Amino acid sequence: MTLSGKHILLVISGGIAAYKSLDLIRRLKERGAKVTPVMTAGAQEFVTPLAVGALSATHVFTELFSRQDEQDVGHIRLARDCDLVLVAPATANLMAKMTHGLADDLASTVLLATDKPILIAPAMNPKMWSASATQRNIATLKNDGIHFIGPMAGEMAEKGEGGTGRMAEPLQIVEAVAVLFDTAPKPLAGKTAIVTSGPTHEPIDPVRYIANRSSGRQGHAIAAALARLGAKVTLVSGPVTIPDPTGVTTVHVERAEEMRDAVIGRLPADIAVFVAAVADWRVATASDQKIKKQPGDAPPALKLTENPDILKTVGHHEKRPTLVIGFAAETQDVENNGRAKLERKGADMIIANDVSPETGVMGGLRNQVKLISKDGVEAWPDMGKDEVADRLAAMIAEKLA
Ligand code: CTP
Repeated sequence: MTLSGKHILLVISGGIAAYKSLDLIRRLKERGAKVTPVMTAGAQEFVTPLAVGALSATHVFTELFSRQDEQDVGHIRLARDCDLVLVAPATANLMAKMTHGLADDLASTVLLATDKPILIAPAMNPKMWSASATQRNIATLKNDGIHFIGPMAGEMAEKGEGGTGRMAEPLQIVEAVAVLFDTAPKPLAGKTAIVTSGPTHEPIDPVRYIANRSSGRQGHAIAAALARLGAKVTLVSGPVTIPDPTGVTTVHVERAEEMRDAVIGRLPADIAVFVAAVADWRVATASDQKIKKQPGDAPPALKLTENPDILKTVGHHEKRPTLVIGFAAETQDVENNGRAKLERKGADMIIANDVSPETGVMGGLRNQVKLISKDGVEAWPDMGKDEVADRLAAMIAEKLA
């Protein structure tokens, strides 16, 4: 979605994540938004107004009592002459000030004076995030209608510390902004969906696993597209390197059995789309110690056992969703194999794609699919995975209408 014509007041507060705000400004402008930055004193310790202004190509506001700025626009107009106030990063301190309505600098004053929606991207040490005071503030801010993106889990700038507290990545923030501006109709409002995505990792021993080349791009795109049409989406994702989509609840799993439990545990649902490239087999008994080479010994023989078929289980489940859609990754005889899977798995539709290496589908950005149902086969031209996702979501909405 384009942000063309949208004016975003970007409040940058003082955390190390402020360096990501520079990229955020670029990304917002790439989408066509106008960005006016406001920096706290703390923010200026991490990035300079010069760098921020060079990227925004607008004046950077820093002072509440600036005679020049007050004459030109004034803090009240600054707070209102925009379509959205975005706070990134939002520190624990600024969130506390917002909670209590403090207005002792330009950033907090603007946040109190604005009548526009506010979206905040918190960033702080995980202990500060989980502190009772911060948690109370979050509850109040959410109750006040403040929108949140993140924070995410992961490694912190502080050495050796991990947990929830990282600021969302700039592209995730841009996506959250786009969602707020999205006024498109929501034909899937009130519907729930489960989507599986990515590969599974099946352990051989504590350091080795069986995996496949799935990137999760198609499944993640479908989850996001369903959410954009208003569905309440749970994405059950195997290990991937792409970010969690916005507007979706993402559950991270490693193994096929964990994926099955996560999916079954979230039934009932109206829609289920199985995009994950689930490993068909796992090692029968994974070693709990690293398997060592023994001089003179033959390589270990891995005894495999079949993994649960999640789609087939759900396709025949007593809580079967109204619409069950599977994918079929094939390297030959795509249509016939797809049709056989439709039957066997109890699906309403199988989306078959050719994943031969020369197609570049597995791990790539594009896909060419055939939709196989009892009504016949519909072949879609080659297109981006995002477009496949949007068209599929629209088709699902039509079927459930
Ligand atoms: N699937 C699943 N659980 C499995 C295997 C597959 O839920 N253990 C789902 C996939 O997410 C996909 C569909 O079933 O939606 C078909 O997956 P695919 O790998 O193409 O088919 P398989 O059943 O594994 O059959 P084969 O390997 O023989 O092609």
